[in-house]
Amino acid sequence: MYRIAVIPGDGTGPEQVREGLKVLAAIAKKFDFAYETVEFDYGGERFLKTGEVLPPDAVDELKTFDAIYLGAIGHPDVKPGILEKGILLTLRFALDQYVNLRPVKLFPGVECPLKGKGPEDIDFVVVRENTEGLYTGSGGFLKKGTPDEVAIQTSINTRKGVERCIRFAFEYCRKRNKAKKVTLCGKTNVLTYAFNLWERVFHEVGQEYPDIERDYAHVDAICMWMVKNPEWFDVIVTDNMFGDIITDLGAMIQGGMGIAAGGNINPEGVSMFEPIGGSAPKYTGKNVINPLAAVMSMAMLLEHLGENAASQAVEEAVKLACANNLKSMAAGRMGYSTSEVGDLIVGYLGG
Ligand code: IPM
Ligand code: MN
Repeated sequence: MYRIAVIPGDGTGPEQVREGLKVLAAIAKKFDFAYETVEFDYGGERFLKTGEVLPPDAVDELKTFDAIYLGAIGHPDVKPGILEKGILLTLRFALDQYVNLRPVKLFPGVECPLKGKGPEDIDFVVVRENTEGLYTGSGGFLKKGTPDEVAIQTSINTRKGVERCIRFAFEYCRKRNKAKKVTLCGKTNVLTYAFNLWERVFHEVGQEYPDIERDYAHVDAICMWMVKNPEWFDVIVTDNMFGDIITDLGAMIQGGMGIAAGGNINPEGVSMFEPIGGSAPKYTGKNVINPLAAVMSMAMLLEHLGENAASQAVEEAVKLACANNLKSMAAGRMGYSTSEVGDLIVGYLGG
């Protein structure tokens, strides 16, 4: 019996999560496993009502689950940063989800903005460090609001944090068994402390994986190659900030935010799966948002639980819907409503 915590969150999050849970119900029946879900109301509405981002026992309670399924965090009436830091980043950090795993995979039938590139060219995974770097909130102001103001934001890179992330990337690459190549994405020519550490650890750990090729590219060049030659990549490993930026680019080349999924992974603890797009508040309640990113996050969640066949079946169903049905991945232009897309997937699963 799997126990799954569900945080629908803000904006279109609940609509997306609803379809993901519909798919979960269908796949559990098909593959004959039992689960229960417990819903948590964390998000903007709760914050506006109670003034609290997360209750004090939230982290301890979430730790008791097998996985967390998240919709989206971000509310138009709440100042940017409060919910993102208070909920999303707090959970990633407190649950020590040290890898943000973001597959960039173009499915057949999905429109790609890159001329001449198809599904055979776009299939890689970004392993983003998820608990350190510029995201730790380390820094501060001096003489705030004066002409002499100083603002400092420090990138934290620990030997332990870098090593466990890089090791995850090599292990994941071995399991993927595709091009057997890990590319370190850094900026060794300018960030000569942080990426010196990354580079040393990369080669040190990489020596334990003689079957895997080691490759390096600066982050700016990675952006160029992701557009020009995405077929070069198998697994990309990088820090938190660079990973944030290049995975939005990755989402675009795989067909847009409507299809891009991710997992915040703690291999020894509880992991949290979410569509990588935001809450898209302008589409809230309109039944037009694309739920496939949430459905693919559910596929990642299933794989994480060890339900590999179920995960694979969900992915195949999404591929069929992309190839045969959806006109576009964009909200309001799919040719189907949000709930109809969920129904399509359930249909392909034989439900
Ligand atoms: C993401 C988002 C978050 C991040 C924001 C909402 C804090 O952009 O998951 O990529 O920067 O990590
Ligand atoms: Mn982002």
